[in-house]
Amino acid sequence: MQNNSTLEKDILVSIIPATFNEKENIISLIKRIQESLKNADYDYEIIFADDSTDETEAEIRKAEKLYPEVKYFRGPGKGLSAAFISAFPKAQGNYIVCMDADLQHPPALIPKLISQLKNGSKMSIASRYVKGGSNEGLGKLWSLYGIYRRLVSLSMTYLTRILFIPIRKTTDPMTGFFAFQKDLIKNTKLEGTGFKILVEILMRTNPDKVTEVPLKFQPREHEESKAKVTQGINYFKHLGHLFWELPEAARFLKFCLVGLNGVMVNLGLLYIFVEWFKIQEIIAFTISILISILVNYFLNSRFTYCDNRSKSKRESLQRLSYYYAFAGLTMFVTLAIYHELINSLGIPYLLSGLLSIIATTILNFVLVTKIIWKLPVEI
Ligand code: GDD
Ligand code: MN
Repeated sequence: MQNNSTLEKDILVSIIPATFNEKENIISLIKRIQESLKNADYDYEIIFADDSTDETEAEIRKAEKLYPEVKYFRGPGKGLSAAFISAFPKAQGNYIVCMDADLQHPPALIPKLISQLKNGSKMSIASRYVKGGSNEGLGKLWSLYGIYRRLVSLSMTYLTRILFIPIRKTTDPMTGFFAFQKDLIKNTKLEGTGFKILVEILMRTNPDKVTEVPLKFQPREHEESKAKVTQGINYFKHLGHLFWELPEAARFLKFCLVGLNGVMVNLGLLYIFVEWFKIQEIIAFTISILISILVNYFLNSRFTYCDNRSKSKRESLQRLSYYYAFAGLTMFVTLAIYHELINSLGIPYLLSGLLSIIATTILNFVLVTKIIWKLPVEI
């Protein structure tokens, strides 16, 4: 219920539709939002986060005069996420709703999103991939374009979910329709790369309670989607940023990369010791193993576990000694598993080798993460 000025209530909900050249959709979007919230017992505002180059601004300004809840906000012109991020501080409500302005996101879902927040969710997401949701808006299922858009969207979804643990809290990280408690982003610096603001918020805030409502993603009524190949590239850049900036993002992958690097160091040194220094193979191998473990330790503390650096020389040495101990244990366990796989289960030797390496990499990761760096283990 929108109140007049004499009875002003605090605004509880700030709805932020992003617009880039959407002049045909402004009025119908506002009307549909009003319709969906006409029985709500809270006040709301609609802040258009606009980067348009056509008459969309004039259209919104007109609406601003007609409806007190409508507000215009000029984005920095740096893409969809940047527009949302710069509009967030303008929001007066405790709850923020992000959505598209092109009517592909049905405003009728807004009350459902808000009621989940009222029931304690930190974030409530309109997902195409829960029961009752659908994806018609990505083009006709049996058209070449529709198949292509679905393939791209699904592979991005799964890739992101495999890589990044907070993303597993939603079935649809690619959706642009969701609501969250404003407090969630209070102390977080969000970065406006690309199109996928939800991925950014989930990764940087890792909210503890996330719920979903089914979204029937509607076909576009006017013009076409602004999703282009460059946005795909930008998305990978965004994932790259998150990977480098957040220590906990894909920590296990970081650990494996360090491990792979260790194998190269190990073999490289072995070659140098044997070929250049004519050291006996078994001794050369032993020394190169010991050195590569040291290199791994150094890289892991700088890269994989940089969110818990050693506070003193002493602590660092202590960690290093544990690191060597676990490396020794790992080698022993690898051999034991290898032996069992071949002899008890009759698995071919190469496959046995691969399986035992995978198993002990995980074991080593768990030990090192939990015991040496005392951080939560998530794979
Ligand atoms: N302010 C601003 N700045 N808005 C933008 C910009 C920009 O640079 N680019 C696009 N928008 C607005 C559009 O006007 C639209 O309201 C909304 O953002 C989404 O853009 P579309 O071009 O309609 O994208 P889409 O339909 O391909 O993408 C939708 O599907 C994705 C899921 O596959 C959007 O809903 C995405 O949010 C969603 O993630
Ligand atoms: Mn759209």
